[in-house]
Amino acid sequence: MGVLNSSMLHKAQDMGVVEFKYINLRDYGRGPRQQVDDTPYGGGDGMLLMVDPLVRAIEDAKKNDPPALVILPTPRGLTYRQSEAKALASDNNGLIILCPRYEGYDERVTHWVDRQYSIGNYILTGGEIPAMVIVDSVVRLLPGVLGGETSAAIESFQDDDLTVEFPQYTRPDSYRGLDVPQVLLSGHHAQIEAWRATRRNHNN
Ligand code: ADE
Repeated sequence: MGVLNSSMLHKAQDMGVVEFKYINLRDYGRGPRQQVDDTPYGGGDGMLLMVDPLVRAIEDAKKNDPPALVILPTPRGLTYRQSEAKALASDNNGLIILCPRYEGYDERVTHWVDRQYSIGNYILTGGEIPAMVIVDSVVRLLPGVLGGETSAAIESFQDDDLTVEFPQYTRPDSYRGLDVPQVLLSGHHAQIEAWRATRRNHNN
């Protein structure tokens, strides 16, 4: 998937910090057409992913990484947040992330799932984007990925307190009448820290 080749995730793969494997659910499908979905019991629109292809795919993935956590993105899940990203990043056993369509799977698959996460209060067409959100937020926390300073450790959101990062500026110090706050040009560390503290949460 394109996102996985974006700069940070690509770098992380090159560094050997992370490895991505894809499993095509169709390989676990039923019959000559490798069917993976079927109509819902009780009626309703659309098709549901059947439990058996999902479970066999999970079992196969677990053979490679035995204690890997199985994650299901779903709007009904726990709201995904930085503390979850941190917990996943410190778990070195691999993650198996399912990518179903919403309302698109047999509920029994949840018996093979360790974590159900929602990435926000809205409905997306499928689990691919939530899966990428989870991957990106976890990989950037892996040692060495961000490079240079330990910005991942000191940045905002670290305690799920919805602290928004302070605004930052670079050259030029004046642009079309918009000036960089004077204090940032002062070189006065304590005053800069105090100013930054007042500007946190500015967008909330
Ligand atoms: N699938 C569809 N919408 C979703 C959401 N908001 N979070 C996680 N998975 C989803």
